[in-house]
Amino acid sequence: NSGITKYVRGESDVCRTLPKRKANVHKGANGKGLVVGGSRGMPGALSLTTLAALRTGIGLCTVALPEDIRLLVTQNAAEATLVNLPSQDGEIAPDGLEALDLTPYDGVAIGPGMGRAHRYDLYGYFRVFKGTVVIDADGLNHLSRELENWKDGRDGLTVITPHPGEMAVLTGKTIKEVERNRFSISRQFAREHQMVVVLKGPYTITSTPEGEQWVNTSGNPALAKGGSGDVLTGMILASVLQHSHKIEGILNAVYVHGHAADQLIHERDELGVTASDVINQLPRAFHSLR
Ligand code: APR
Ligand code: MG
Repeated sequence: NSGITKYVRGESDVCRTLPKRKANVHKGANGKGLVVGGSRGMPGALSLTTLAALRTGIGLCTVALPEDIRLLVTQNAAEATLVNLPSQDGEIAPDGLEALDLTPYDGVAIGPGMGRAHRYDLYGYFRVFKGTVVIDADGLNHLSRELENWKDGRDGLTVITPHPGEMAVLTGKTIKEVERNRFSISRQFAREHQMVVVLKGPYTITSTPEGEQWVNTSGNPALAKGGSGDVLTGMILASVLQHSHKIEGILNAVYVHGHAADQLIHERDELGVTASDVINQLPRAFHSLR
């Protein structure tokens, strides 16, 4: 186990490292993020990711989606701006990403609610982009079909946020194997593919390409509901863009996501806490960590 460092990440680490805004700061300095995904069957995932990024303090958030679902998303997230992408069968058309210009953005989150009908050349599309790319949900399914392209890394940081089922697809292992060997499988994947791996679940593990690993201590079964992961994706995007130390940004997002859910179950039963409740709790969750 030489060269491996494991840490437990708790509340005092987050309190110490949450960014503080200067009085004269402007929106451009707090990160320009792009959220890509959504489909006719899953427009809500994109709304959750976007709202979570906004409630995590992102300076500007743009949503790129199949044009036929734009009203569903903008009605929920009035603060976001839009890029309409060509749609085919209710999902982003196979060549739909190519028209999208990444130069205005500091970071991108791709995958929530994206659907799996088409294939995209994600590596070709993101390779020369200097910003952070967070890949989640159906984006991970697309990634798994072209993983061999990613060996040499990109110019910017890549973060993947699989649950054990998605990790199994990425590695060709069974879910059982992933769950039994969460540390070693995520560490190896992070190293081989030069990505930060956020392997979700109770006690989410974050691994860097350099072999460092952190175990998160917040969160509870109220999060075991559809949409929780979409919230985390938006939080990670927003947080990375506001931290000079990007890994700390990822770790803080993972912690606050669970912390918000922990606060909620003090006041209500875990059964009725939704992903939207977690988003709305975020300002209080951050406040309590100052
Ligand atoms: N304790 C603590 N945290 C938990 C627990 C638990 N028992 N269960 C889940 N969580 C947290 C995870 O750590 C993670 O942050 O909730 C989140 C769940 O994320 P996902 O598994 O991605 O769930 P979901 O929001 O449903 O994903 C939405 O993406 O994964 C695809 O197929 C999925 O299309 C769906 C979409
Ligand atoms: Mg998910």
